Amino acid sequence: MKQTLALNLLLGMALTMWALPASAQSRQPAVPAQPYAAAGAGTCLTCHGVDAKVTPILQTPHAVKGDPHTPFAQNGCESCHGPGGDHAALKAKSPSIVFKGPNISPVAERNAQCLSCHQSGLRMNWQGSQHQTNDIACNDCHTIHVTKDPVLVKLTQPAKCFTCHAEQRSDSFKFSHHPIREGKVVCADCHNPHGSAGPKLLKEFTVNETCYNCHAEKRGPLLWEHEPVRENCLNCHTPHGSTQARLLVQRPPYLCQDCHANSTHQAIPLAGQSVAGQIAANIRLMARGCLNCHSQIHGSNSPNGTFFTR
Ligand code: HEC
Ligand code: HEC
Ligand code: HEC
Ligand code: HEC
Ligand code: HEC
Ligand code: HEC
Ligand code: HEC
Ligand code: HEC
Ligand code: HEC
Ligand code: HEC
Repeated sequence: MKQTLALNLLLGMALTMWALPASAQSRQPAVPAQPYAAAGAGTCLTCHGVDAKVTPILQTPHAVKGDPHTPFAQNGCESCHGPGGDHAALKAKSPSIVFKGPNISPVAERNAQCLSCHQSGLRMNWQGSQHQTNDIACNDCHTIHVTKDPVLVKLTQPAKCFTCHAEQRSDSFKFSHHPIREGKVVCADCHNPHGSAGPKLLKEFTVNETCYNCHAEKRGPLLWEHEPVRENCLNCHTPHGSTQARLLVQRPPYLCQDCHANSTHQAIPLAGQSVAGQIAANIRLMARGCLNCHSQIHGSNSPNGTFFTR
């Protein structure tokens, strides 16, 4: 019975769509408008109240009726699923908006439901963001019918992001990595997945400002600045993971020698040792340990720190 009704409904829709010009088709809602259910969430729960996949929502902030901004203080289930009167009367297979499964609604329609309440705050830059323009839905990251949304929990958040970002997942296994696996740092500490005014969805306007949030001692100002540090931490570091120690993009001395020629450096400690082989040996001796002497590589506050040796 239900099947036939739904089939008729779809058939009717298909016929109407066929008769309309293409421009008008795109403006048609996916499911014809339904009235709201007579008793809101109460109506829905008469049938769905026994479904253990649905009911955990009743223990979440969304179900706090005392807060007038929540769905349950407004249209209940239908604040998100859209009007579902026909569905509740078994005259339609689904309410207006379906978030998963074979009858899933288009991303834009699903997101519009959430954005009707959540447009501000962190989502100020959602429109035009990398995720929005790539058709990512709020519920690709958020799970609503569970007591605690895993993407909001430090230990489980990365797994959600890794489902799409495989490269960052493999970085997280590397020898040196931000303690993301360990649950001490999460993606959202550096990124705002909802959109940002900075590059690469970073929380701050620049890479360095993002890093200073936790590595404040690197902010300075310092008496003797090392230019590449001020310019961009990523001149020497990579954020997610590296096979080199300390998240470095390269191992010293090669790292340093990308920018510094070692020909002018006083790398030959003793006069009279200018035998070719020994010079080479000394250069290598020095080369392995730029940081043994230039230990204040991020800059120095010592009056004698011009060369970052103290
Ligand atoms: C008379 C019983 C009944 C009522 C009342 C009812 N539903 Fe359903 N609903 C069902 C059945 C049966 C299904 C199909 C089986 C399933 O997916 O659990 C379903 C499926 C759904 C689905 C999935 C639809 C799809 O296409 O995948 C959603 C979402 C849903 N209901 C939400 C609601 C909402 C919101 C309300 C209140 C406005 C509501 N239901 C009221 C019985 C009901
Ligand atoms: C805050 C928005 C929101 C509210 C309120 C809400 N839902 Fe959902 N619902 C979703 C999302 C998102 C999903 C996809 C699965 C998930 O995230 O848990 C979903 C999934 C479902 C499903 C599984 C089929 C489908 O469409 O994916 C059913 C059935 C359902 N909801 C019924 C209900 C009922 C009944 C209520 C009221 C008691 C309700 N929902 C309240 C957002 C909501
Ligand atoms: C009718 C308004 C309304 C709608 C629609 C709505 N929300 Fe909410 N949402 C709220 C309110 C109110 C809160 C609790 C107060 C707060 O933290 O902002 C909340 C809280 C949340 C939280 C934080 C939950 C927590 O455990 O701290 C998330 C995540 C969220 N909503 C996502 C969504 C998503 C995704 C959708 C669409 C599927 C959605 N909301 C639809 C009003 C709404
Ligand atoms: C790419 C994954 C992702 C997408 C897509 C996403 N979110 Fe989030 N959302 C998160 C993460 C991660 C957090 C936790 C943020 C934090 O801790 O700073 C969060 C937090 C939230 C919160 C609670 C914090 C707050 O702002 O009060 C709400 C509400 C929310 N998201 C709504 C939405 C809505 C609405 C959409 C769709 C327009 C959406 N999210 C899309 C990952 C996502
Ligand atoms: C459903 C798949 C999906 C999920 C889940 C997802 N993303 Fe994305 N993300 C994308 C796509 C697609 C893009 C745009 C294409 C690209 O740059 O890879 C993107 C882009 C990004 C970018 C910007 C990349 C750039 O080059 O500007 C960042 C940063 C990002 N995602 C972080 C996250 C974080 C953090 C999470 C988890 C909270 C997350 N993503 C979850 C699919 C996803
Ligand atoms: C410590 C800060 C930090 C953390 C934590 C972090 N990121 Fe990033 N992420 C960055 C920075 C900085 C960039 C910019 C890299 C660049 O410009 O080359 C970036 C870039 C990205 C990009 C774009 C990749 C590219 O090469 O353009 C994606 C996708 C991304 N991050 C996803 C994630 C995910 C997923 C997580 C969590 C597992 C995460 N990030 C955790 C700082 C961080
Ligand atoms: C949310 C806080 C946070 C942010 C933001 C952050 N870090 Fe970290 N960083 C940490 C923590 C925690 C550690 C681990 C410290 C430890 O193990 O003692 C760490 C460690 C490091 C290390 C040493 C890694 C090692 O293997 O010893 C480097 C290098 C580093 N961060 C660079 C950066 C850069 C560059 C940025 C900006 C892109 C950044 N961090 C942003 C928290 C942060
Ligand atoms: C010129 C290259 C270079 C730049 C640019 C650079 N670093 Fe480093 N950083 C290093 C080297 C080399 C080490 C390893 C030092 C060691 O092993 O003693 C290091 C180590 C670190 C460490 C771990 C040890 C410590 O000192 O706490 C952190 C954290 C760190 N850097 C953060 C940053 C931040 C934040 C920025 C940007 C403001 C930045 N670095 C820019 C070269 C650089
Ligand atoms: C991305 C390029 C870059 C990298 C990588 C780099 N530096 Fe520098 N470094 C500079 C620049 C630019 C200056 C400023 C030169 C000037 O003022 O003449 C500088 C200045 C210095 C100075 C002070 C020189 C002076 O004349 O004031 C020392 C010492 C130094 N760097 C050591 C290192 C060491 C050691 C490493 C490796 C850990 C390193 N640098 C990595 C670009 C770099
Ligand atoms: C044995 C200690 C020591 C080691 C190892 C060392 N330096 Fe130096 N470096 C110095 C001292 C001291 C100065 C101060 C200027 C001077 O006396 O020439 C200096 C000066 C510099 C300068 C600025 C002057 C110039 O000659 O251009 C740069 C750049 C520099 N070092 C880079 C490096 C790099 C790159 C490495 C690794 C390949 C390295 N240093 C290894 C002690 C060292």
